[in-house]
Amino acid sequence: MRSRYCTCVFCAAVALTLALLLLAPRAVHAQAPPPKGPASFINDVAPILKENCFACHDSKKRKGKFDMTTYESFRKGGDHEDPVVPGKPDESHIIDLLTEKGAGRMPPKESGEALPPAKIAVIEQWIKEGATLDAGTSPKADLVRELRARWQPPAPLAAYKIPEKVTALAFTPDNQKLVVGGHHELTVWDIGQVKLEKRIATRAERVYALAWLPDGLLAVAGGRPGQEGDVRVYNLNAGTPKIVEGVAMLDGVNDKAVMVKQLLEADDSVLCLALSNDGKKLASGGCDRTVHVWDLTGGVTNAKEEQTIENHADWVMGVAFAPNGQHLLTASRDKTAKIWDLKAKESLMTFPDHQNNVYGVAMKADGKTAYSVGEDAQLRRWNPVADGKAIPPTGGHGKPAFKVIVHPKQPLLATCGADQTVRIWNADTLAAVRTLSGHTDWVYTVAFSPDGNLVASGSWNGEVKVWKVADGTLVKSFTGSPGYVAANPPKK
Ligand code: HEC
Repeated sequence: MRSRYCTCVFCAAVALTLALLLLAPRAVHAQAPPPKGPASFINDVAPILKENCFACHDSKKRKGKFDMTTYESFRKGGDHEDPVVPGKPDESHIIDLLTEKGAGRMPPKESGEALPPAKIAVIEQWIKEGATLDAGTSPKADLVRELRARWQPPAPLAAYKIPEKVTALAFTPDNQKLVVGGHHELTVWDIGQVKLEKRIATRAERVYALAWLPDGLLAVAGGRPGQEGDVRVYNLNAGTPKIVEGVAMLDGVNDKAVMVKQLLEADDSVLCLALSNDGKKLASGGCDRTVHVWDLTGGVTNAKEEQTIENHADWVMGVAFAPNGQHLLTASRDKTAKIWDLKAKESLMTFPDHQNNVYGVAMKADGKTAYSVGEDAQLRRWNPVADGKAIPPTGGHGKPAFKVIVHPKQPLLATCGADQTVRIWNADTLAAVRTLSGHTDWVYTVAFSPDGNLVASGSWNGEVKVWKVADGTLVKSFTGSPGYVAANPPKK
């Protein structure tokens, strides 16, 4: 079960392969026969290097003291000199290594197959034609960035053939609608009529976290696993929607009125977001292990990155502000939860008790109790002020728990997990109040409505459910994938 979680939802390596195979047009292109016209370094050669070589030859690993991530460093070579002799593929060291039959082949035997002949032919052609860099590109330009800048997201599907896993959802501030993360889009659903109202195309393939900002704008964290990540801010009520079969379509990729601000561009997915109680600070965390904090005092358009925190040894999967806005709780795949003092810029304490991946954190409104959930299937409670020690009892979930949230008004918590349930807890005693069953797959995300009356959840098989907090009645249930017809059962 654990491996399913890792490979399917967050595991960058598998997702990277999938993304390259299925999505990135450049990668597909790179597998095509050699270009008919002149070969381009950026468009034809760099994607091959990125996919097959950067894992060992980037600016950090530099195997053989060789960094290929800029044209300049690529042509400088490593222990040897320039691996390329312009015009002469037969004399180029790189071609020797790619076609080498014995030891010394690149990529090395133990790391995988040789490059397919079609890809070697592309590099040969480029060398034959002079091994030049595309006009207008700096030799010092970071190739990962250049490739990312050239990448164009696909348009959202007219109708989903398989349901998209729901990794994030949020009620609108008026409690009437749900924003659900889709495939390269956000969808907005009227809860009362279960009607799809709006679709907002996004650059991010997946949405991992949503946070409403004080001025009615929506902060969204997401990414393309293993490729890129971002935090972007959207105005869902701006732009000129195109109406298609009664659904308003907005362009959150190119329309600056809709995508009003990009706060972060990262090399991998951004997984979590939190807004401070006073609405003045926003924090994010993700696969690059860093937490970013922005000061929103001057409004979103003037947002300033206040600090970048590297306090975890692995992905940051959850963030939450203490009510004072000064302390930040974080949850990580490094098996710990931590507290960071934003003013002193130092780590205050580490909570190690989960002894396995920690997926979510939350803080009680009085600032005196921290909550965390994780792979160990426990909801744990600890003292974030005095000593970071656990406060028994813990709450058992049966299976890994992915998220914990605090009710906006009452002393209640909600959690969700691999046991296919949403659970409501008494925040003071950790007594189990209610288990909401009915999902038929892992429940990844859960949200309370701002008025506190409803709780919504989203699962791996695309189901969205809305329940009454007071008595656990199921209010609505639907698949959050536009156009998906359930008669077409999903293949897993
Ligand atoms: C799994 C790690 C790994 C991968 C992937 C890899 N390399 Fe290497 N590469 C190495 C190591 C280690 C060396 C140093 C070998 C030595 O010094 O004997 C090296 C050395 C080289 C050198 C010689 C550099 C110099 O100046 O000495 C070249 C050229 C090279 N690699 C090209 C490539 C290309 C092209 C790819 C992708 C198709 C690639 N490598 C993929 C590990 C890797």
